[in-house]
Amino acid sequence: QTGLTALDYGFVNTAATKSKITYIDGDEGILRYRGYPIEQLAAGSTYLEVAWLLIYGELPTADQLGEFDERIRRHTLLHEDLKRFFSALPHTAHPMSVISSALSALSTYYESGADPHDPEHVELTTIRLLAKLPVIAAYAHKKSLGQAFLYPDNKLSFVDNFLKLNFGNMAEDYEINPVLSTALDRLLILHADHEQNASTSTVRLVGSTGANLYASISAGINALSGPLHGGANEAVLEMLGRIQDSGEGVKRFVERVKNKEDGVKLMGFGHRVYKNYDPRAKLVKESATEVLQALGVKDPMLDLAMELEQLALEDDYFKERRLYPNVDFYTGVIYKAMGFPTRMFTVLFAIGRLPGWIAHWREMNLDPQNKIGRPQQLYIGEPERDLPQR
Ligand code: SDX
Repeated sequence: QTGLTALDYGFVNTAATKSKITYIDGDEGILRYRGYPIEQLAAGSTYLEVAWLLIYGELPTADQLGEFDERIRRHTLLHEDLKRFFSALPHTAHPMSVISSALSALSTYYESGADPHDPEHVELTTIRLLAKLPVIAAYAHKKSLGQAFLYPDNKLSFVDNFLKLNFGNMAEDYEINPVLSTALDRLLILHADHEQNASTSTVRLVGSTGANLYASISAGINALSGPLHGGANEAVLEMLGRIQDSGEGVKRFVERVKNKEDGVKLMGFGHRVYKNYDPRAKLVKESATEVLQALGVKDPMLDLAMELEQLALEDDYFKERRLYPNVDFYTGVIYKAMGFPTRMFTVLFAIGRLPGWIAHWREMNLDPQNKIGRPQQLYIGEPERDLPQR
């Protein structure tokens, strides 16, 4: 209300979070995991290799990667009692609510009595989370379909196991589609970390209180679910669907966005940091065209998205505000072509982001120097005053 800003109070934020994990340059559109450019990792690495890189800081040797992969496969099974947890939820439950609750439930099997910050225990928890979250996610998907849960098949790679858990069924063999595996592995890499975004900051803050890794990741999943954050990939498909069904056309829709009619936004556009094209969006857009062609899918939504992007990029309203497509703008078109329902899109984002969340939790909470998080506040409320005489 005072019209003054933080700078007027001489407030300089020296409390920025320090991290060695990910570097972003929002003006140049640069993203690097532990110094490696996202373009190189997306083209030449795998999700598990990137997970190791983010968590341990260096690329794994072939033996380390093999052993990491093997350990994850050996931890994919869920306790049979935990599977009953899903039957307590309605089939209409949003999968993001299901996986965040299931993760909290998972901690009750492993955390009683353990020191959540004991390094040995954190190693085992890291493996358990990487192994079990995809299974929990697939069960949330199957639950929504009213289909039986499958058991993981540990002869399969991480991504193929996940695809089979989602799309396989008890009545027939599941045929691996290498196009899907490659595309999904690449998308998981693109989502694996992104510095101090809202959900990662949530994971760090919750972990800094001494809460265990399951509780911290569950909180991060809830933060990610918001439509301004990870929930945007779901909101983009809904937005494209509304434009398509209403027949209003992209021009009219963009006018409504510019006039801020009913608070409508161009979902999948804009970013707190990138004031240039999100490098991930560029890579996802390339993938979208390749994957749909390889799958022989012709989706008018992709054409609509490209038309919308073209219009916005040429419009001063968006240029002046430096609004460009972000990672969420094109991902939904690919997930849809893979066969995932819209409400699973943010769950896929969460699986991708899991290694980043774990890396940041470890960076903050395995360092004995670290203190409990306490975001700074600048008080701009009322000065001291007395209660009226009564
Ligand atoms: C992710 O932080 C991360 O790194 C997140 C993430 C990650 O990997 O973890 O990258 C993932 O969350 C990507 C963002 C996904 N969200 C969306 O796509 C939702 C739509 N985008 C917006 O809600 C918005 O752009 C935000 C929330 C992403 C960023 O908001 P900012 O930077 O705070 O922008 P702002 O609210 O200050 O807006 C500045 C101006 C405003 O106009 P004016 O008041 O100046 O007239 O730009 C306008 C806003 O109205 N604006 C938009 C817009 N985003 C901002 N107008 C229309 N459509 C939009 N999408």
